[in-house]
Amino acid sequence: MERGQFSSKLGFIMAAAGAAVGLGNIWGFPTQVASNGGGAFVLVYLLLAFCLAYPALMAELIVGRYARANAVIALPMLSERKALKRLGQGVGIAGLVTVAVILSFYAIIAGWLFSFALAPLASSVGGSQISDWLMAFSIERNVAFTLIFMVATILIIGAGVSQGIERWTKGMMPALVLILLALIAYMLTLPGAIDGLKHYLVPDFSRIFEPSLIISALGQAFFSLSLGVGCMLIYGSYLSSNENIVKVGAWVTIIDVALAFVAGLLIIPAMYVAAHYGVEIFDKNGDLHDSDKLIFTVLPALFAQMGGVGQLVSFAFFLLMSLAALTSSISLLEVPVAYVVEGHKVARKRASWVIGSLVTLLSLTIVFNFEWLFGLVIMITTQYSQPILGLFFCVFAGWIWHRDSALSEIKKGFAGAQDSLFWKIWPWYVRFVCPLFILLMFIHALWGQ
Ligand code: PHE
Repeated sequence: MERGQFSSKLGFIMAAAGAAVGLGNIWGFPTQVASNGGGAFVLVYLLLAFCLAYPALMAELIVGRYARANAVIALPMLSERKALKRLGQGVGIAGLVTVAVILSFYAIIAGWLFSFALAPLASSVGGSQISDWLMAFSIERNVAFTLIFMVATILIIGAGVSQGIERWTKGMMPALVLILLALIAYMLTLPGAIDGLKHYLVPDFSRIFEPSLIISALGQAFFSLSLGVGCMLIYGSYLSSNENIVKVGAWVTIIDVALAFVAGLLIIPAMYVAAHYGVEIFDKNGDLHDSDKLIFTVLPALFAQMGGVGQLVSFAFFLLMSLAALTSSISLLEVPVAYVVEGHKVARKRASWVIGSLVTLLSLTIVFNFEWLFGLVIMITTQYSQPILGLFFCVFAGWIWHRDSALSEIKKGFAGAQDSLFWKIWPWYVRFVCPLFILLMFIHALWGQ
């Protein structure tokens, strides 16, 4: 079968980074920082992202490019033994299921972003009631916007990969960075911002070994880099053999981590600014009020301070965020769709609609049982499934696959790979360090509770 390929290195980096950058960076990361004591979380997150998530990302990208197929087909290709082939298939399928569940909660949050983007438009044409409806938490609004978002995702994935994805990302990411930086500059002039900045940047070292902090940071890093579910493996399968995969992976990691860091730089101080203006951020026990809705309280409060331009900025910001979420959601839906298209010869359009509809049903189930299902589903998929499946990907790349095949795959676009620092470290790193650390963190977390 003919596989689409990205037309350039920049195109690939932007598309893979666009897939990685999404709610994980702008919604998940700041929320986790706020719930886990600020700077200590930031520090642990940065360490885990570069020392554990990057090597795991490389494992997926390299295996994907080698196999030129999705994880369910790729992982079994790494071994001759029947039992291992079966295990590989099982891991791939567990990834598909995880990805579908992730998409089901992702679409809900992304729907909020989109409704927040429309709200200023509604109020600028005099529809203040509509604008209030768009910004208030209600089942009707959640249903409507989850549906809109899912249909958009299905339409793009149904249309095919490089066409759909590459075009979206190139303009959106730089625009998002610019608006974030401009907002940070403005926000830092407001009262309370400097306290927030300190909270964000100065770690409280007594907290960095807290089990719940570590496990949240691990889950966040794996979620943000889209690991453990075969998503980056598919992106690897679309990468041209001439590219230096080590560098490409490093760029994707740097862009993703940088965007999360910048988003935190805006949102954590903005929390303090909002608190200064009387918005209730913390409850009596000092815990975050409604942590999942943090950015939806804090940012509108910031925009309100800006006067007239606030509406415009609010529109631009939430629209860009919706697009960032869309480039991630299409990468989520691509995983099961690619599997069905390649493995069962179903037409792409049909596969997109069938799988997309199933995910939508799951989303709506969560919307109707929000209080108990929403947080639970996020915790199970991001804090447990993703790191544990990521561990298996590392085991497959490090133990089951032949080292020589891995090296020759890397060498295709990086002639001197065998003498590089990467090759001195990575093979034993994915063999020992990644699996062991992920395991240890789980033991530590379960023990500590
Ligand atoms: N990394 C994406 C984000 O941060 C979410 C995602 C997770 C996408 C897993 C694909 C697979 O928003």
